[in-house]
Amino acid sequence: QEQPQMRNAQFFDSCKNLKIYFVVNILCPSKKTANFYWCIHRLNLKTNVNGFDKALITQTNTKVGSIIVYDGERKRTYNVTPQVFNSFPKGHPFSNKRWDTCAVIGNGGIIANSSCGKRINSADFVIRCNLPPLTNGYEKDVGTKTNLVTANPTIFLNKYGALTGRRRPLMEKLSSYGSSLLLLPAFSFGMNTAVCMRALYTLQDFQAAIQPVFFNPDYLYKLSLFWRSQGLKEGRLSTGVIMTSLALELCDNVHLYGFWPFGVHPYKLKNLTNHYYDDMKPNTNFHSMPSEFNTLLQLHKQGVLRLHLGDCE
Ligand code: CTP
Repeated sequence: QEQPQMRNAQFFDSCKNLKIYFVVNILCPSKKTANFYWCIHRLNLKTNVNGFDKALITQTNTKVGSIIVYDGERKRTYNVTPQVFNSFPKGHPFSNKRWDTCAVIGNGGIIANSSCGKRINSADFVIRCNLPPLTNGYEKDVGTKTNLVTANPTIFLNKYGALTGRRRPLMEKLSSYGSSLLLLPAFSFGMNTAVCMRALYTLQDFQAAIQPVFFNPDYLYKLSLFWRSQGLKEGRLSTGVIMTSLALELCDNVHLYGFWPFGVHPYKLKNLTNHYYDDMKPNTNFHSMPSEFNTLLQLHKQGVLRLHLGDCE
């Protein structure tokens, strides 16, 4: 399952092209971990999407008066008013630094009973998707550490009354993610904006520990074009692939857990639920998770990231 990483020294020895050598040297300061594919992939992401600086909307990359174009509805736009601008974070969202190890946690049923919680908690930066549950016994398998968590607005609409009523249930739910970043796709579709704004204002007004930030739709759009050019042509990118792409720019070593969009466990050969916490089926009109998984598997084989499918203990 795990592929040995090609040593950087070996790569440099075999690298005849000085230009590539120069670029790789800048992008791959960690000689311990880097390999050819890893460097090229990182270079591709940096030049095509630059998630490190552009994935989130900040006061630096989005000024008052700018016009935001929605990534899911290209004809829809949003004018940044001074009031909205003031709700954007001022500094660099990732404190301008890179981490050694990132863990990206998909919500697949494969992670149930994996005992991977401790290993996940030991990563420097942990990314989770769609406000997944971390308590009631799930800790052992998925851990609790969270540095960044995404929220799909349908969760606010379906489980929290569109945030038009009491806000306490949401505040209680979000307390399990500590002071992590809460990533909201406010400008992907028109229906997302008002409810994401309500979430942001609620958290700011109640001085919640969690820090709400908006996905930059320009980043999401460029990322979808990037993956298209790499052969991922079907549907809209899933949150898991978006977060994996971001992690590849933020961290030297990217580990994926809970990614397995299939009904049977690869080793234990038993039936799996779609999520580790429920069996709500994926929307196949929207995403193509099996093709995405194939792409992730290729990256695993190339040593760009590590997919964990087995148990940890
Ligand atoms: N995932 C997976 N295998 C599963 C379920 C989920 O690989 N059986 C990954 C996908 O990349 C997915 C992520 O885990 O994006 C989060 O899962 P989920 O919350 O189920 O995502 P969805 O709601 O299906 O879709 P979206 O990506 O739009 O958030």
